Amino acid sequence: MTQKTMTKPDYPRIRVAPPGPKASKIIAQDKDWSSPSYIKALPLAIAGGKGAMVEDADGNRYIDFMAGIAVSSTGYNHPKVVAAVQEAAGKFLHICGTDFYYDSMSRLCERLGRLAPGRSKYRVFLSNSGTEAVEGAVKLARSHTKKSHLISFQGAFHGRTYAAITLGASKVKYRAGFGPLLPEVSHLPYSNPYRGGDPIAAAKELFERTLSPKEVAAVFMEPVLGEGGYVVPDPEFVRWWRGFCDEHGALLVFDEIQSGVGRTGKWWACEHFGVEPDILLSAKGLGSGMPIGAIVAKESVMTWGRGTHGSTFGGNPVACAAALATLDVIEAEGLSNARKMGDRLFKGLASLKAEHPCIGDVRGLGLMIGVEFVKDRKTKEPDARLVEELEEKAFRKGLLLLSCGKSTIRIAPPLVLTEYDVDAGLAIMDECLTELGR
Ligand SMILES: Cc1ncc(COP(=O)(O)O)c(C=O)c1O
Repeated sequence: MTQKTMTKPDYPRIRVAPPGPKASKIIAQDKDWSSPSYIKALPLAIAGGKGAMVEDADGNRYIDFMAGIAVSSTGYNHPKVVAAVQEAAGKFLHICGTDFYYDSMSRLCERLGRLAPGRSKYRVFLSNSGTEAVEGAVKLARSHTKKSHLISFQGAFHGRTYAAITLGASKVKYRAGFGPLLPEVSHLPYSNPYRGGDPIAAAKELFERTLSPKEVAAVFMEPVLGEGGYVVPDPEFVRWWRGFCDEHGALLVFDEIQSGVGRTGKWWACEHFGVEPDILLSAKGLGSGMPIGAIVAKESVMTWGRGTHGSTFGGNPVACAAALATLDVIEAEGLSNARKMGDRLFKGLASLKAEHPCIGDVRGLGLMIGVEFVKDRKTKEPDARLVEELEEKAFRKGLLLLSCGKSTIRIAPPLVLTEYDVDAGLAIMDECLTELGR
């Protein structure tokens, strides 16, 4: 049945202004007892979902353009992922993959090794989260190269543990007060085609004046900047760093925790640039929300010895089952849908840009799209206030949006969203911007 002949979905629908009474109770309890460090971007208390639809505790239904920060890759309860989780949970919940063997862990390592970009043979270490994958990659890079200096980029986000916050440079609050951080990390400008600049000249300057390139162990790069503003770099920038690493014996680490697993319409965003990493990091969408991450490294690089790195929970059997099912779903429907729906979103956003001068830039790959809002298209001054107002207004009309960078909405929906979801979500964005007079 085509979409046109199907009955119209029963979402978005707002039955009671959110947060309704049930959501308010959950939020009040949370406010009393949970850590004040949590952000809680919107007063959304989720009770369920299906595909790219989220239902809150009061029965309000939303179209989701953010997938729990690019995590719910196959939607909220894909039947194949749910069945795989249930089956695995019914067998055994744990046996520490660092010390023992089981089928799902071995299969997932092989699958991810084979999915890695390029022709090299890769090996895989499984973690519980993105930040742990970053942490492990720092250890691996330093131990393999026997060097210590790390390069990362302004705007980067790599997680919340110590190596990750040291590498990160997206918001000062992630680092302030937590020092001392890791020694020997330099941050350089990232490529930003919309805002210009010469990031390669800045790198050359550093290596001429401050740091010998021979001392660099690894370069940590998000092939598409995530938290820092959904910025797609100039391909030349990515290739220049590959050349730098080859010339100076450094490792190129692609943090694909947000951009990977099909989000950009290819398995890995770096495939868009034809650049092969030495180490690739994955998490977020890999398990459709079950906690799992991965360090995927060239066999020639993953040289650390037995017992030097491990994890009690990393590669948990239920999470491995979720990841294997997720990869099946993405292979069968996610990759092509990300390209198709990404094109549809892009076209729709281009029309919105033509109507709303507050939209300065629309950029992205597949279903990783940034919409940057500015006060003035000539000065490109970021309009953070407008982004807040838009998020809030869209929420009240049944659309979940999430910001990143200084004034960008990151559009990162489940990879299974439909044409209806795209069109209805864009219509809400249009309506909100019109009501905001922008
Ligand atoms: C690019 C990138 N790296 C690392 C992380 C950290 O992942 P986690 O929150 O699973 O530790 C994130 C999370 O947003 C991310 O976007």
